[in-house]
Amino acid sequence: MRMYDIIQKKKYGKVLSKEEIQFMIEGYTKGEIPDYQMSAMMMAICFQGMKEEETLHLTLTMRDSGEVLDLSQITGIKVDKHSTGGVGDKTSLVLAPMIAALGIPVAKMSGRGLGHTGGTIDKLECFSGFSTTLTEKQFYENVNQIHLAIMEQTQNLAPADKKLYALRDVTATVDEPSLIAASIMSKKLAAGADAIVLDVKTGNGAFMKQEEDAFTLAYEMVQIGKNAGKKTVAVITDMDQPLGNAVGNSLEVKEAILSLNGCGPKDVMEVVYALGIEMILAAEKAESPEEAKHMLKQTLQNKTALEKFAEFIERQGGEKRLVYQPELLPIAHIQLQVINTEEGYVSKILAEEIGLACLALGGGRTTKDSVIDLSVGILLNKKRGDMVKVGDTLATIYANHMELAKEAYGKIVCAYQVQKEPISAVPMIKGIVH
Ligand code: URA
Repeated sequence: MRMYDIIQKKKYGKVLSKEEIQFMIEGYTKGEIPDYQMSAMMMAICFQGMKEEETLHLTLTMRDSGEVLDLSQITGIKVDKHSTGGVGDKTSLVLAPMIAALGIPVAKMSGRGLGHTGGTIDKLECFSGFSTTLTEKQFYENVNQIHLAIMEQTQNLAPADKKLYALRDVTATVDEPSLIAASIMSKKLAAGADAIVLDVKTGNGAFMKQEEDAFTLAYEMVQIGKNAGKKTVAVITDMDQPLGNAVGNSLEVKEAILSLNGCGPKDVMEVVYALGIEMILAAEKAESPEEAKHMLKQTLQNKTALEKFAEFIERQGGEKRLVYQPELLPIAHIQLQVINTEEGYVSKILAEEIGLACLALGGGRTTKDSVIDLSVGILLNKKRGDMVKVGDTLATIYANHMELAKEAYGKIVCAYQVQKEPISAVPMIKGIVH
């Protein structure tokens, strides 16, 4: 087999066989196929797309390029949740303890943030001492004993995807739905859960700017999951403005704790409930969405979710008292208010711009080795639909350097769009793909 012929075949829109896909992925991972040939292939896929069976073969070959976790040592149906990435997305921090409080095992592999989106692992590191470098044995033990453990993705999880993603990132070939679906699902399948609930974001802060593309991606991922023998469901959610009011690691952790205390922002809780219902149904712990929602609400009312979060933080080496005294979490020393200059209604808050403002403050990574400042971020005082007068505070910047705060100020001003007429409410949940 020659890589040249496989590229040629895809260039003319033909369907690649399982053997051809295995040849190219295995060869590329071993370094036998050079970047320039793989780049040509990725671009050909961007133009010609892939059929369902090709996407499945690509996913499974990437899954099998490294370690595939065997979670059979954990009792019960293991449900994983994954978000395609957004700004202010702290749903995992809220949802994982809610689900675990119901006795459903949550064995989660998470990542760090890159670019304008945040990562769960960074947020958890706001608790001093917290560690996500667990051995597999510790990971299984924690899930069996307290129903919740979060571990950083190991180096050996789908290494083929790691190499290919880095290549796609620099060759403008990231945003093809089949490639994204295969990339995400190869890692999810390698992480070993029995069921997968996907939060597919759509809007200006998401990979999929158009709702239609988000549905295409959701459908592709659900098909892969099912074809690989896993229960899979995708919830398509709004990312046309940041989720909740807090953006930035420590601020988001505080908002997650507020949510676990039953005082979460409406949009955050809508997403939490929509995903949580699917997780509970997938774990076969409720007969109907109504019953599942009732169970979720109870974990907040009786504080079992908050207690579970504290137990989890302590178990992984973090300071438990911070869960009950979130005012002690790291916080930047400069607070700068972004002032409104135009009367009307907030029609848009460009999530990507807000994410970039947080990045400018030092709250995100520009390269995978960047050191991030957990204490900086942005609190959105006004959200889409709110009426605003001249002089109102739109947002509050938390910074450690005034020049960075000023840079963020400019981006936040650009992110807020105000119009004269009131705007109608935008649904948070766009649909569910089963
Ligand atoms: N996230 C991934 O893991 N892979 C992609 O291709 C896009 C987003």
